[in-house]
Amino acid sequence: MSADGFSNTPPAGARPDWTIDQGWTSYSEAEHQVWITLYERQAALLPGRACRPFLDGLDALDLRRSGIPDFSRINVEMDRLTGWRVVAVPGLVPDAVFFEHLANRRFPAGRFIRELEELDYLREPDVFHDVFGHVPMLTDPVFADYMQAYGRGGLRALELGRLSNLARLYWYTVEFGLLETPDGVRLLGAGIVSSRAESIFALDDPSPNRLGFDLERVMRTPYRIDDFQQVYFVVPSLQALLDATLQDFAPIYARLAKASDLPITAIEPQDRLFTRGTQARAASQ
Ligand code: PHE
Ligand code: FE
Repeated sequence: MSADGFSNTPPAGARPDWTIDQGWTSYSEAEHQVWITLYERQAALLPGRACRPFLDGLDALDLRRSGIPDFSRINVEMDRLTGWRVVAVPGLVPDAVFFEHLANRRFPAGRFIRELEELDYLREPDVFHDVFGHVPMLTDPVFADYMQAYGRGGLRALELGRLSNLARLYWYTVEFGLLETPDGVRLLGAGIVSSRAESIFALDDPSPNRLGFDLERVMRTPYRIDDFQQVYFVVPSLQALLDATLQDFAPIYARLAKASDLPITAIEPQDRLFTRGTQARAASQ
């Protein structure tokens, strides 16, 4: 994820592109243990919930192995599969820096890991969210191309002043997307698969709406950063997602500049309805 850069210069010790060394040998045994605890929890939960490309990517990268993965080790496998690489960054990076990395098939990942006392609480994405959540999908050739295209699209959206719209596409696909498969709806987004509670909520809870993915509709839908989502979008296939983004967004942005946002719980006549949510969770808060 990226943050608006109040400062455009990297912190001390970081390179001009904001990357740092992962420093894999300086993780403590306790830090590796946090990874293993989180890994075991999610690995037990995700078969039958996460989509096949995610589960296959997890296997291909052998992410359990020695605790927190050594980026240089997984990069050998990633290079062979899709040419993506994971690079370490100190934390959130400015949008333009983030997009520039994606456009060059580099995924910026935090190096730090959360505390054992705060397994389910994250103030910013850590190495478990970034690597366990995001990197397996980058072993899928179609998703790999989607993320690179997104990086290019991000740089363009910045120029056109429509990043608020494009960010919703990332949010509702890369972070919180669901995927339609012959076996049923499965988890796609990194924000879901890296969270124990949301891995269950996103598929099983009666509260949220679940709607068919539509590019322009998604870009008009605000999202929550403080709780589980009130709406999830179901992508028909990774190829359909990539195809939808191959068009020129400039005319879409022009329309969006005049259109109003939709209420987060809206169900529109054109929406493909998977689940009409009760919104009980949002109401109870
Ligand atoms: N096609 C988009 C544009 O013209 C770029 C893009 C690709 C955006 C993939 C998101 C995902 O801006
Ligand atoms: Fe993320």
